[in-house]
Amino acid sequence: MILVVAAEKGGVGKSTIALNLAVHLAVNDVDLVLVDTDTQRTCAQFVDRRDEAGIKPRIHCIQRTGNVANTLRDLDTKHQVVIVDAGGRDSIEMRSAATVAQLMLVPTGASQPDLETMPRVNEIIKTAKVYNPNLQAFAVLSMASPNPLVSETTEAQDLLQEFSEMHLADTVIRSRQIYKRAMADGIGVVETDHGQAKAEIQLLAQEFIDLE
Ligand SMILES: Nc1ncnc2c1ncn2[C@@H]1O[C@H](COP(=O)(O)OP(=O)(O)OP(=O)(O)O)[C@@H](O)[C@H]1O
Ligand SMILES: [Mg+2]
Repeated sequence: MILVVAAEKGGVGKSTIALNLAVHLAVNDVDLVLVDTDTQRTCAQFVDRRDEAGIKPRIHCIQRTGNVANTLRDLDTKHQVVIVDAGGRDSIEMRSAATVAQLMLVPTGASQPDLETMPRVNEIIKTAKVYNPNLQAFAVLSMASPNPLVSETTEAQDLLQEFSEMHLADTVIRSRQIYKRAMADGIGVVETDHGQAKAEIQLLAQEFIDLE
């Protein structure tokens, strides 16, 4: 399957989600490739740090920019899972990946400026579905308050249920220092002893990636 992590907004946790899902799958012996289409190279640099530290399992990561549709189709025939970090903003990478992906995850914060970008994402998905009717898209609440009672989170969840082209993921990724620390150390949160962050990534994977 091809899973693309994309958003119209920058800094919402796309790379964090993409690379943590990749590590989780690799730890579970899934044959995956991580495709970094962002010239910021967040995922590629993460994998470089991981390799330099000699951490196993190694994550297979490639960098591609421009129209990535053919590359992704080809990788899909060779690997169980292809995870694409579509980078910041609406881009050719994001749009071309959306024409071949089975799944698009759209991380978003719960704040007003984050949520305001979601109608545009909804329109991009609508267009992608003309070419790719099998595309399923889900908003993922990301960097949410660790306090589950905070009303901003529940209000955002209510709003995110309303879009025509995307559902809302059940799993919520909360704002936790461990995501930053782990990324800096070249490890996934599933490789730390932080139970809550580990559970979030495991639940996200369970929700979307059927490995049977
Ligand atoms: N759940 C989280 N908890 C705490 N910090 C987080 C979380 N997710 C991401 N971050 C931090 O927020 C910053 C932005 O995250 P990330 O790079 O994943 O976002 P992005 O959407 O890929 O950004 P860009 O648009 O620049 O590619 C990073 O410093 C990252 O460590
Ligand atoms: Mg990024």
